[in-house]
Amino acid sequence: MLNKKSLYKISSGLYLVSSHDENHHAGCIANTLLQVTSNPVQVSITLNKENDTTNTILNSKVFAVTALTENVDMNVIATFGFQSSKDHNKFESFQTNLDTLGNFYLKEGMNSRLSCKVVNTMDVGTHIVIIGEVIDGEVINDVSSMTYSYYQTVKKGTSPKNAPTYQEEVKTSSKTRWRCKICGYIYEGDKLPEDYICPICGQPASMFEKIED
Ligand SMILES: Cc1cc2nc3c(=O)[nH]c(=O)nc-3n(C[C@H](O)[C@H](O)[C@H](O)COP(=O)(O)O)c2cc1C
Repeated sequence: MLNKKSLYKISSGLYLVSSHDENHHAGCIANTLLQVTSNPVQVSITLNKENDTTNTILNSKVFAVTALTENVDMNVIATFGFQSSKDHNKFESFQTNLDTLGNFYLKEGMNSRLSCKVVNTMDVGTHIVIIGEVIDGEVINDVSSMTYSYYQTVKKGTSPKNAPTYQEEVKTSSKTRWRCKICGYIYEGDKLPEDYICPICGQPASMFEKIED
C-alpha cells in the first residue's frame, strides 16, 4: 500500500522556468528541476502538458531557470504558479532581464539562473520530462534557496493540480475550511476574519470561498 506521505520526504527546490516564442513570454513555477549529468551539464524538468510554458518550451527548444530564495515575494509564486501565461503577461509587474537565448528571467527573489537548450524529451503521461543542456549560468546572490519543504511548512504554501507533486487536501480537523480562489491556500477556522489577507498571494477575505465538505 502506498502511503502518499512517503513522497513528502523527497527533497526538492523551487524554480521559475521561462521560455518565449514570437508572440509571448511564458513562465511557471516548478519543483521538478534536477541536474542529470555534468559533462555535458544537463538538467531535467518535468512539466504538465497543459501548462502554456511546456508548449512554449517544446516549440522554442530553449528555456531559462532561476532558483527561488526563501525570501522571494509570495506574489511571484501566486503569479507564476497559479495563473496561466495564455491569459496574460505574467512578467509585466516584475522587473525582468533577458538571457542570451531571449528568455525573460527575474533577479529579485532568485539566487541563480541557467539558460538551456532542449536536447531530449520523454512523454510520461500527464507530464513531459524535458532535458536541457545548460549553455550559460550565473550566481545572483548567496541567499538560501527555497526548498519545497520550506515552502510547505514555513510559508504554508500549496500546489495546484498541474504540479506533479499535487496531493488532494485532506481535512485534519473539524473546523470549517476556506479556500483562496486565486492560489488555493486553505484557511481553517469557523469564521474567516473580515480583514484576513491570504499569506500566499495577498488577496482579501472576499476572494475566499467556503469548502463544503
Ligand atoms: C509549489 C509549486 C510547484 C509546482 N511544480 C510544478 C512542476 O514541477 N511541474 C508543473 O508542470 N507544474 C508545476 N506547478 C504548477 C505550475 O506552476 C502552474 O500550473 C502554472 O500556473 C502553469 O503556468 P503556465 O500555464 O503559464 O505555464 C507548480 C506550482 C507550484 C505553486
